[in-house]
Amino acid sequence: MNAQRRPLIDRSLPLLAEGYAWLPNRMRDSPGPVMPTRLMGRPALAVRGPDAVRFFYDETRVRRHGALPEPVLGTLFGHGAVHTLDGAPHRARKEYFLPLLDPGSVAGVTEHVTAAWDEAVRSWGGRPRVVLFDEAAVALSQGVGRWAGLPAADAPETRRTAADLLAMVDGFATAGPRHWRARRARGRQQDRLARLVEDVRAGAATAPDGSMLDRVVRHRDLSGEPLDAKTAAVELLNVIRPTTAVSWFVAFSAHALHRWPHHREPLRSGDAAFATAWAHEVRRFYPFAPFLGGRAVRDLTWHGHSLPAGGLVLLDVYGQNHDEALWGDPYAFRPERFLDRAVRADDLIPQGGGDPRTGHRCPGERVTVGLLEALAVRLARLEYTLPEQDLSIPLRRMPTRPRSGVVLTGVRAPA
Ligand code: HEM
Repeated sequence: MNAQRRPLIDRSLPLLAEGYAWLPNRMRDSPGPVMPTRLMGRPALAVRGPDAVRFFYDETRVRRHGALPEPVLGTLFGHGAVHTLDGAPHRARKEYFLPLLDPGSVAGVTEHVTAAWDEAVRSWGGRPRVVLFDEAAVALSQGVGRWAGLPAADAPETRRTAADLLAMVDGFATAGPRHWRARRARGRQQDRLARLVEDVRAGAATAPDGSMLDRVVRHRDLSGEPLDAKTAAVELLNVIRPTTAVSWFVAFSAHALHRWPHHREPLRSGDAAFATAWAHEVRRFYPFAPFLGGRAVRDLTWHGHSLPAGGLVLLDVYGQNHDEALWGDPYAFRPERFLDRAVRADDLIPQGGGDPRTGHRCPGERVTVGLLEALAVRLARLEYTLPEQDLSIPLRRMPTRPRSGVVLTGVRAPA
C-alpha cells in the first residue's frame, strides 16, 4: 500500500483536537505496529516498537532536516538547533552536549538544583499556598543556571526566567495565546543569552572554566568557526530549558503520590533502587513528548507499508510507552515493574531512542532521572496538604499536566 497514493484526509486538525490520544487511537485500529496517515500536508507512516525505534534512528532512512515545523522551532527548540541537524554536522554539534552524559555532570546539576530546592522549601511554609509546578521550575532553572555558569540573578529575574523557560515548552503545540507567549519568551531569553555570549567573547563577562557557558562560547562546528551568538544562545537554552521542564515530572510525581500514597514510604526511606524505578515509571506513565518526526531520505517500506522520499516517519512515543505487549497492564502506575526488569534502551523512549552519543536521543536523560530521583524523595519527605483543586490531566492539551499545577498548603520542610 502506498501512503502517497491513498487519499487520506490530512490528520493535522484531529491531532490538535485529540492530543495524546491521536496516534494511539488510530494505531489501535491498525493490524500491525504501523499506520499510514497524513500530517502537515505530507504522507506519513506512524510506527512503534523497539524495531521501529532502530528503523527511525537509522540515518540512511530517516533524517531530521526539514522535519520539524517552524512553530516548534520558533518556540521549543530554536532555529538552527541540534535537533534539526543530520550526519557529520549533527555529531559535531552533539559534542557540546556529551558532557551531560557523565556521572559528574548528573551529580553536579542535581547538587545545584537540590540546594536551590532546599533553600526554596524553607520559605514555602510561610506562604498560604504554593503552586508546585511553578516553584519547582524556579529551583530547577536556578540550579541548572548556576551549574551551567550563568551569572547569578536577583529573585524577580530568576522567577521571570523560569516562567519564560516553562512558557517555551508550554506553547509549542498550540496556535493560540500560549504559542505567542512562547515565542516572546524565546525571543527574550535568546537575546539575553546571546548578549552574554558576546560579553564573554569581548571580556566583559566571565565563564567558569569547563562550564556549559564556557563550552558554548568556545564550541566549533564542522566549519571550524565558532557558533554565532544566536546559535550559541539557542544551544545554551537547549540545556537550561529542558532541565527546567523536569518540573512537569515533579508535578506528575506529586499527582502519583496523591493517587497512590503507598509509594510515599519507600521513597521517603531513601530506597535508591525504588527512586530510580519511580523516575522511570513517571516518565513512562505520564504523557509528555507525544511522538517524534523525521523525513524519509528515500522511498521506504516498513511492515509492508511504503512511504515516498520526503514523507514523514512518526515514532509513536506515548503509544510505545503504553504498549500492552511491552509493558503489560500499561495504564497501571507501578514503579515496581522497573525493579523486576532491566531497562532496555529502545523499549522505554520518553526521551527518544537509540544512542545519545551518535543519534538524536536526549543527552539529558540521565540528568532527568537523577533530578527526578532526588526531587521525588524530597517531595515524599515534605509535609503538606492538597486542598480542593482540579488535579485532572487533560489528554487533549499538549503538553499536559495536572490542571491546578498542584497547589500545596501547610508546607512543612523536614527538620
Ligand atoms: C532531545 C525529551 C530533558 C537536552 C530530546 C528528545 C526528547 C527529549 C523526546 C528528542 C529525541 C529525538 O529527537 O530523537 C526530554 C524530556 C525531558 C528532557 C521529556 C525532561 C523533562 C532534557 C535535559 C536536557 C535535554 C535535562 C539537558 C540538560 C536535550 C537535547 C536534545 C534533546 C540537547 C537534542 C538532542 C539531539 O537532537 O541530538 N529530549 N528531554 N533534555 N534533549 Fe531532552
